[in-house]
Amino acid sequence: MQQIKLTSSKIGEVDADAIIVGYFSDQSSSYAEEISDATGEFVGNLLNNGDFEAKPNEVVVLPYIKGLQANRLVLAGLGKSSEFNAAVALRAAGSAAKALSEKKLGHVVICFPADFLAEAVAGVIVGNHGQDIMRSEPKIHSFGSFSVMTGNTSAVTEGQILGNAINTARMLVNLPPNVLYPETFAERVETLGEESGFEVEVWDDAQLQEQECRTLLAVAQGSDKPPRMLTMKYLGATEDAPVLALVGKGVTFDSGGYSLKPSEGMLDMKCDMGGAATVVGAMQAISLLNLPINVVGYCGLVENLVSGRAYKLGDVIRSRNGKTIEIHNTDAEGRLVLADVLDVASKSGADHIVDFATLTGACLVALGLDCAGLFTNDQKWCDQFREAADLAGEDSWQLPMTDNFSEQIKSNVADLKNVGAGRWGGSITAAKFLEEFVAETPWIHVDIAGPAWSDKEKKWIDAGGSGCFVRTLVQLAKEYSQANL
Ligand code: BES
Ligand code: MN
Ligand code: ZN
Repeated sequence: MQQIKLTSSKIGEVDADAIIVGYFSDQSSSYAEEISDATGEFVGNLLNNGDFEAKPNEVVVLPYIKGLQANRLVLAGLGKSSEFNAAVALRAAGSAAKALSEKKLGHVVICFPADFLAEAVAGVIVGNHGQDIMRSEPKIHSFGSFSVMTGNTSAVTEGQILGNAINTARMLVNLPPNVLYPETFAERVETLGEESGFEVEVWDDAQLQEQECRTLLAVAQGSDKPPRMLTMKYLGATEDAPVLALVGKGVTFDSGGYSLKPSEGMLDMKCDMGGAATVVGAMQAISLLNLPINVVGYCGLVENLVSGRAYKLGDVIRSRNGKTIEIHNTDAEGRLVLADVLDVASKSGADHIVDFATLTGACLVALGLDCAGLFTNDQKWCDQFREAADLAGEDSWQLPMTDNFSEQIKSNVADLKNVGAGRWGGSITAAKFLEEFVAETPWIHVDIAGPAWSDKEKKWIDAGGSGCFVRTLVQLAKEYSQANL
């Protein structure tokens, strides 16, 4: 891991390729004053004349200014001080870092407010990392090194851990499906576990059969690539402390199976392991931060393809918990994978479960590209999650789980079918299906079909995988040990 340095030199004397300074639109800072002093009228005029308004994510790059040693002064807008929060800090720093990452820079220094400094550091790391990991000559270059103008070592360390964990999740999503499939996903996580301090157990197909994970195996059987299930353990609290289980959908490629997707809907389906990526990123961050919590992550890893061995419409499969499922649509595969993994989690002593899945296109219709859908069997637990997500500045919205949706997933020939009656409320019927496999455990399902992936780049982050909800999970894990749930 790259070492981020702390510095306290005078801004005018900082010798760097760039110095990034956060500005509020309604309030000055000691940095701003130092810059005004060092550059005479220059920056002051810029602000007074409205060339830089310090709006959120606004970035102005000023090369070779008189009075500064640094080659570039980068003004990063933070908006109004009263609206400053974790997401604003991350995005502002990310926008500046991303704007600069077109060039190969050596050393960069950042000056941001003391509040949410960890998020600003994470933002630089996120803005410095692109989706073009397979390109011979990448377009986004990370800084050779960077320093933070602060004395707060723990904020810098935490920010670095957060940024790297978000990038782990993004990279897993961005890796192409011929490179990242269940076996290679599992191998990468084994390495990551060793580096970060969590234990990894991998079930191969033989163990999955022994464990009666038949619905997961049914989805996997159309592919030549064997499935895997990962269990990741980090025990940072005493043995009797409650256990938080994180469950992720890890479909490394979703063709739809016999209910084949059209080409345009299939291209991005390497992102269908976004839930698993979020869980892995969170495990990395929680372990490296040594949080006082017991957390176990579970990922069901499969590829959903078509072949002479693939599962079919009309097949009936007995899930691990004994409920039989009639297959009406092989493209509703995520809930089948999760059914068995949720059963494993709930029977392994989880006190609370959160699952993450790119589960339904219907969730995109309901909530748009950037907002996750929340579904629960326990309002108090869901409120706790929502509070953590709000603090992290990650958008989520709860949807209803009323009984009439359960009616829709009853089958004429088996206990359940894997789709509802028609398209309407498709995210809710999917969640209702999952609920059948968590028994009485307080559980939240987070449908991240929207936020896990972005076709378009944003100012602070490249297109592709987003690493969504890694920060929320760190926030939740911090509160979990103290919470009275
Ligand atoms: N992986 C998809 C959901 C998805 C769609 C994720 C778009 C990200 C972007 C999931 O497996 C799926 O295909 N769901 C179906 C369910 C339907 C057949 C009941 C869907 O949403 O169309
Ligand atoms: Mn599907
Ligand atoms: Zn899918």
